[in-house]
Amino acid sequence: MAQSSPQQVGPSSSGATLAEMDKLLTDEEVERLIDASLAARLNAYCPYSKFQVGAALLTKDGSTITGCNVENISYGLTVCAERTAVCRAVAEGQRKFRAIAITAEMGNRFVGPCGACRQTLVEFGLDWEVYLATPDKRYMKTTVAKLIPDSFSPEWVTLGERQEG
Ligand code: THU
Repeated sequence: MAQSSPQQVGPSSSGATLAEMDKLLTDEEVERLIDASLAARLNAYCPYSKFQVGAALLTKDGSTITGCNVENISYGLTVCAERTAVCRAVAEGQRKFRAIAITAEMGNRFVGPCGACRQTLVEFGLDWEVYLATPDKRYMKTTVAKLIPDSFSPEWVTLGERQEG
């Protein structure tokens, strides 16, 4: 079922504090991000699983950086869409993110990132948004912190004398 504008499923953002509202994406930003992840998904290289995944990061300065899954005949070398996007972003000098949209298709379910990708997202903060979307543009909104509770996060580690890399 093709839909023109994204449709949120699950809890809404009402009840957010003003500070939280400030960080929320507008409907247009959500739509653009999901569209970007949908487009990236079409580039997925997944001859083994045939499971296409697209991801799109929205950086704090407003740029969008996408990724798709890239598989390998040596299966364990496969890189997920989310990590492709994060690596591209970092290579382009971007480390501050507002949100990521992840699009995949698994019946009626929203596909959450794998454990390795969750940990990769945590590296860049707990307090940012994750939109799990379907090709027909339904989406569920969550956050990095919710996806990986009690995480091993740089926010909890005293860096001490270590220089920020
Ligand atoms: N995949 C992703 O791209 N992201 C995830 O978070 C879950 C899994 C990819 C990896 C592999 O190419 C395919 O989906 C099947 O596991």
